[in-house]
Amino acid sequence: MATKVLTDQPSIANTFLAELRDSSIQSDSMRFRTNLARLGGLIGYEISKTLNFKEVETETPLGISKSHLISDKIVIASILRAGIPMHNGLLDVFDRAENAFISAQRKMHKTGSFDIELNKVTSPSIEGKILILCDPMLATGASLNLALQALESYGKPSAIHICTAIASRTGMEHVQRLHPDANIWIGDLDEELTAKSYIVPGLGDAGDLAFGPKI
Ligand code: URA
Repeated sequence: MATKVLTDQPSIANTFLAELRDSSIQSDSMRFRTNLARLGGLIGYEISKTLNFKEVETETPLGISKSHLISDKIVIASILRAGIPMHNGLLDVFDRAENAFISAQRKMHKTGSFDIELNKVTSPSIEGKILILCDPMLATGASLNLALQALESYGKPSAIHICTAIASRTGMEHVQRLHPDANIWIGDLDEELTAKSYIVPGLGDAGDLAFGPKI
């Protein structure tokens, strides 16, 4: 399936991404969340072009107009907690979508390495529906892979769309390899990944910037 990097064709997405990355702006957490949501909305618009539509008649005050409405059922899923702002942006666009949430966290080892642990999944059936999964930072792809595996028990979606603000090349290629059937929407692509799996230049910790530090 397709992978699309929004910044390959400059647009307003570049402004949102530049503000997300800018350390002098990202300390404004409301603007940070808003920019993630706006990016989610732009990606939602791009996804909408791939969906199925049905023709309906709409009555205007002056006559009948033929309209085309999305006929697919959509489930928006996000990995907590960083996925929430993009999730909101997508939900503004697909306002009738159902919702799924996956709680994941890093379980650190003494060596400094870590595994991703899934704690809880809440989802409706995704059988035959469009699954949109958001995680703003695609670092290694491990959380996305675990989330997609966990969602398998909720049915087989008709299409999978992964939404991310910034991806590392390694993470993108890992997800492409493991999920060749998924469409991947990336705001911007970075080349470097640190030993602790932070994307460079990236933007830092998206969850902390959106919602404050954790212990
Ligand atoms: N998660 C983040 O929030 N930032 C990264 O750089 C990688 C994973």
